[in-house]
Amino acid sequence: MTNTLVLAFHPHLHDGSRVNNKLAQTAASIDGVTVRDEYALYPDGHIDVEAEQRACEAADLIVWQSPMFWYSTPPLLKAWEDQVLAYGWAYGGGHALEGKRLMVAISAGADAHTYMPDGPFPFEQLLTPQRATAWRIGMQWVEPLAIGGAMKLSDAELDAVARTYAQRLQA
Ligand SMILES: Cc1cc2nc3c(=O)[nH]c(=O)nc-3n(C[C@H](O)[C@H](O)[C@H](O)COP(=O)(O)O)c2cc1C
Repeated sequence: MTNTLVLAFHPHLHDGSRVNNKLAQTAASIDGVTVRDEYALYPDGHIDVEAEQRACEAADLIVWQSPMFWYSTPPLLKAWEDQVLAYGWAYGGGHALEGKRLMVAISAGADAHTYMPDGPFPFEQLLTPQRATAWRIGMQWVEPLAIGGAMKLSDAELDAVARTYAQRLQA
């Protein structure tokens, strides 16, 4: 069975989030999927790099799940990248994540058209740093689950997104 690690980065995953909370709950209900609530684990921002690296080593598919913050990621995800993807481990002679798959699952509040291929800032462009990072450390880039108009999703639309997420996590 595939071992999937969902790293959920939302500062209020259980006390404010609707979309990411639903996605995290959906992921956690699937066999073989581990969800780590990173802001809950590190409320003071001090990341346990060893623990994160061990969790990643055990996974075949790693997911960075978060809301979009200012056309980028929440700051803890950026700090996670800076610290966990360490020289000698992820690159610079290290190959810990080589061949593993990386999927980004990101929700954005602005109108969905903003992020469409013919919109002003397509998701594909905005996610270039993450794709380049995957390339640099030898990970396989899996098509992202990118959700525009996240704040206006009806319950039925959110359920459909969660079903798609579940399928993608099991693919
Ligand atoms: C600090 C902050 C920055 C945000 N920046 C963006 C942004 O750049 N683009 C966007 O579409 N939505 C932005 N949003 C909206 C969030 O992406 C949106 O509320 C979230 O995806 C909804 O998911 P949730 O229900 O899990 O919180 C921002 C929200 C916050 C709090």
